[in-house]
Amino acid sequence: MIKLKILSENRDNGLFIGEAGLSVWIEAFGQQFLLDTGYSDLFLKNAQLLNLDLNKISTVVLTHGHSDHTNGVPYLNGGKTIILHPAAFKERWSIRRRIYLGMPIKQERLEKQHKVVVTKQPLEFCENCYFLGEIPMVVDFEAKGNFASTLDKNLTQTDYTEDDSGIAITTVQGLFILTGCGHRGVCNTIEHAKKVTGQNQIYAVFGGFHLRNLEKQKDVINQTISYLKANNVKELYLGHCVTDDVIGYFEQNLREVKIVRLAAGKEFDVQLLPPTKTNN
Ligand SMILES: [Fe+2]
Ligand SMILES: [Fe+2]
Repeated sequence: MIKLKILSENRDNGLFIGEAGLSVWIEAFGQQFLLDTGYSDLFLKNAQLLNLDLNKISTVVLTHGHSDHTNGVPYLNGGKTIILHPAAFKERWSIRRRIYLGMPIKQERLEKQHKVVVTKQPLEFCENCYFLGEIPMVVDFEAKGNFASTLDKNLTQTDYTEDDSGIAITTVQGLFILTGCGHRGVCNTIEHAKKVTGQNQIYAVFGGFHLRNLEKQKDVINQTISYLKANNVKELYLGHCVTDDVIGYFEQNLREVKIVRLAAGKEFDVQLLPPTKTNN
């Protein structure tokens, strides 16, 4: 069983306040960890409303350094294992909002408070759960121009967001893949997850795909839909940087796929089994 609880997401949901950010509590076959920390301390407040004790979490995977995923980091209790790509520490600025979009804490300070695992390489951080490391851009139709930040205040140096990564969980039914913003492209992320895990069947993809303009990105959206069909993906959990009209378009054009809209406070239990162990 994989359980997911959304602590920070762009959409409000009843009692749960949203924000432009992402943080997800995950339990995979009894092992708990956190993906990202949202844009503020909101993830702690929503965790409290969900009766979640984040002290039980020892591992936090940061999908990339953007502040809508890392501004919550200073609010974590010390002593966690924090896994991230080295480029997550880069200074960067938002193209859309023209504000600082880098991590709120420098590597040195973070290392004083936590065990920090900085790696470009994939890493199995708990049984059947992989941090994907750096995602190569191999699919020709995506990720070009899908970047949200620059490396300078004048917005001239494109930030290729090499740190943009994700998590893949191997299960009997196929991979359960989690993205943050999906800047490197969701299809690139899936292709990389297959290589890292050696598993080609994809059960579900969960998170942001950085598809926010249905008209301008129609071509990449259509090709993404064809790719997901070809890969026989069973479930999509869409939110964060996927706009409502893009989610609607996915729903219209992927009728064979179960599509779920993310929002703060939503909880999911996905009935998946851990890979069966083979005795060599
Ligand atoms: Fe984001
Ligand atoms: Fe991002």
